[in-house]
Amino acid sequence: MPKQARARYEDTKRTRDTGLKVAAVFGGWWRELTCLALLAAAWGYLASVVGDVLSSVVLGVVLAAALGWAPARQAILGEAWKARQRRRWARSMVRTGLANPPARASREHRSVTGPRATKVRRVPVGEELIVKAPPGHSMEPVVKKLGRVTADLKAREVRVMPDSSGNARKARVLVVRTDPFATEESLPWPWLDKDRVSSEEPIPLGITELGEPFSVRIIDRHTLIGGNTGAGKSVGFRLFAAGFALDPDRELWTFDGKAVGFGPWEACARHTVGMSQVDAAIKMKELVRIVDERYALLKSEGTDMLTPEMIAAGHKRIGVLIDELNFFLEERDEKTSKNAVREFTSRWTDVLERGRAAGITVACASQIPYAEIVPSRARNLFWYAIAFASRSPQASDTILGQGMAAQGFNAQTIRTPGVAWVATERDIERVRFFHLTGDQAKQIASRATGHRLDADLATLTEAST
Ligand SMILES: Nc1ncnc2c1ncn2[C@@H]1O[C@H](COP(=O)(O)OP(=O)(O)O)[C@@H](O)[C@H]1O
Ligand SMILES: [Mg+2]
Repeated sequence: MPKQARARYEDTKRTRDTGLKVAAVFGGWWRELTCLALLAAAWGYLASVVGDVLSSVVLGVVLAAALGWAPARQAILGEAWKARQRRRWARSMVRTGLANPPARASREHRSVTGPRATKVRRVPVGEELIVKAPPGHSMEPVVKKLGRVTADLKAREVRVMPDSSGNARKARVLVVRTDPFATEESLPWPWLDKDRVSSEEPIPLGITELGEPFSVRIIDRHTLIGGNTGAGKSVGFRLFAAGFALDPDRELWTFDGKAVGFGPWEACARHTVGMSQVDAAIKMKELVRIVDERYALLKSEGTDMLTPEMIAAGHKRIGVLIDELNFFLEERDEKTSKNAVREFTSRWTDVLERGRAAGITVACASQIPYAEIVPSRARNLFWYAIAFASRSPQASDTILGQGMAAQGFNAQTIRTPGVAWVATERDIERVRFFHLTGDQAKQIASRATGHRLDADLATLTEAST
């Protein structure tokens, strides 16, 4: 190449590279740059009509007015904040290797290979982004590198949730910066002074991270609670017990593998089982018998659910509470234990499976419901899975489901007693549970027992006259 041509070529290349570098730096800033360009154009136009000075004055007044008027200022600052969050996400994708850096030798001024933040919203715990993967990609690589992304965003936690649109290329990413549950705090149960509740009323369990009330519709839905010792299982379980006890249309059956937890409920419970695997198997058999009877009744009446008439005729709903579930599911060396556990397990699974139509609701609490102990057939029959603080992501997953911890739903990160992930088939929330103390439970239990005795007495008097 002749010397002159070469110099010309180098020159053009240098100019183009500089242009690309500028574009690479400013690519994420196009909104701000467009605004500046528009302002400059407006100034130029005005200047040509009314002169430089007046043009500057007019634009200055307009700008001052826009910044002085709160709604406009908030809108402008809000947009600037959103743009900053998008840039931060894009930078984080490049740094964690999830996106290529802008190619210097191409005309691309920003990476098109990585997941992009399309929408940004401020939420009480931090930021919520709608992130879109490039065509032909999913959000899986982000989930795999979530730890690094979290560190790069300097966040406390990052959670990846499916987008409500059902588009697998998109995800809702929650960047958690503050923990509203960091301090230990006792929230009183809103139903403390209730005299009675109906089976249909959802039981209030606690408040969500957004400060909203959270309750569970337990009618014909089963619950599995897991977590470390001291994480808040038994306190959370009391809410179920109290909810069942306050419902005059419901019988209470309690099983406790530690034999201390259900003290206050014993008087109002129809049946109580303590630390005996054999007794537990026998009582489960009785429940299976009730299920069989009720199925026969439903069939003869031509319905598929317990009706109010049947309940009034004495076929009450049943709330089954099993604390320390592992005790009843773990075979010990003796033959009696082996037989009892096998019988208990199959009957318990049967009650979980068929209890729904027969008006039987089961709530179980267990330290870590390991896969070897809780059969997967039974596990899939729980509508609510509640994970209090757990020792490892694997332990958390045994309660909430495989792969949940990797997506940021990890009970290992919970440090406060009484805080748990509550998952259903549809969604998952972090909840601070209400704290129903032992004494309060005693009061509710004695009130509920009184009502039950009154009702029994009334039936007896009615029968004898
Ligand atoms: N919802 C809650 N709010 C405040 N403190 C709680 C809550 N739940 C539990 N705690 C505290 O944690 C302690 C242990 O709770 P507990 O339910 O007995 O744990 P676990 O049954 O999981 O071993 C309680 O005595 C209480 O001090
Ligand atoms: Mg306990």
